[in-house]
Amino acid sequence: MKNKEPKIIVKNLTKKFGDREILKNISFEVYDKEIFVIMGGSGSGKSTTIKHIIGLLKPTSGQIIVNGVDITNLSNEELIEIRKKMGYLFQEGALFDSLTIWENVGFYYLENTNMSPKEVFKLAQEKLKLVGLQGVEYLYPSELSGGMRKRASLARAIATNPEIVLYDEPNSGLDPVTSALIDKLVMDLRDNLGVTSVVVTHDLESAFTIADRIAMIHKGKIYAIGTPEEIKRSPDPVVQQFINRKAEGPITEELMREVIQKAKVK
Ligand SMILES: Nc1ncnc2c1ncn2[C@@H]1O[C@H](COP(=O)(O)OP(=O)(O)O)[C@@H](O)[C@H]1O
Ligand SMILES: [Mg+2]
Repeated sequence: MKNKEPKIIVKNLTKKFGDREILKNISFEVYDKEIFVIMGGSGSGKSTTIKHIIGLLKPTSGQIIVNGVDITNLSNEELIEIRKKMGYLFQEGALFDSLTIWENVGFYYLENTNMSPKEVFKLAQEKLKLVGLQGVEYLYPSELSGGMRKRASLARAIATNPEIVLYDEPNSGLDPVTSALIDKLVMDLRDNLGVTSVVVTHDLESAFTIADRIAMIHKGKIYAIGTPEEIKRSPDPVVQQFINRKAEGPITEELMREVIQKAKVK
């Protein structure tokens, strides 16, 4: 790792929704300029984790420190300041349907600055070019394919030149070529612009391609953190079942127990 300074610190994070504990005392650090992948099955708590990093969710207990600032108890106004340095790619993409692609990408500038529409258009066009989209500026999100929408969302996430970009399932629903293109983009942003990235994914191939380090999360707990090589060598049976795509193992056994438990309750 080039620089071991922590850019993001998640310390003893616990999150409950009602009486369900979704995150169970998780801790990790993301170093400056690294690609940190949070890998795990669906429902394991990946999206919940990154929503805490951007302050969309408040911990039940624990702390989140971004760029040396404890964001746990910040007001919305203070959070807006912190978020200026962060880009967030939503799992669903979340483009505004009634705006054109260039307006979506330039949204921050149209809303918060005095830049002329012409200047914003140019900026949006540059960001779109970075993600391999050209000639779609005047189209609406509904006119784009899923992969193109994902790329447009990514262009919007990086429009403000953020130091930190958080990606929620950037490859889901994409064909292998578009998926590889997104992986390359995430790496290019690190290599060319020094962006620090947190990528949430259940896509093993992507995780092992892009990650400097990986955290394996399952049922709200972290089972292993390390470089891709360290994760491959992890002795943990949950990690091994997941990375080797095994139908049998502790994850399946737990699932079976839950199904039986639910049936008993009914
Ligand atoms: N706002 C919420 N209210 C109640 N339960 C939630 C909420 N958000 C997520 N959950 C639950 O938390 C668990 C983890 O969700 P999530 O973080 O979205 O998982 P992942 O992104 O790993 O698929 C799931 O069981 C989900 O149903
Ligand atoms: Mg999710």
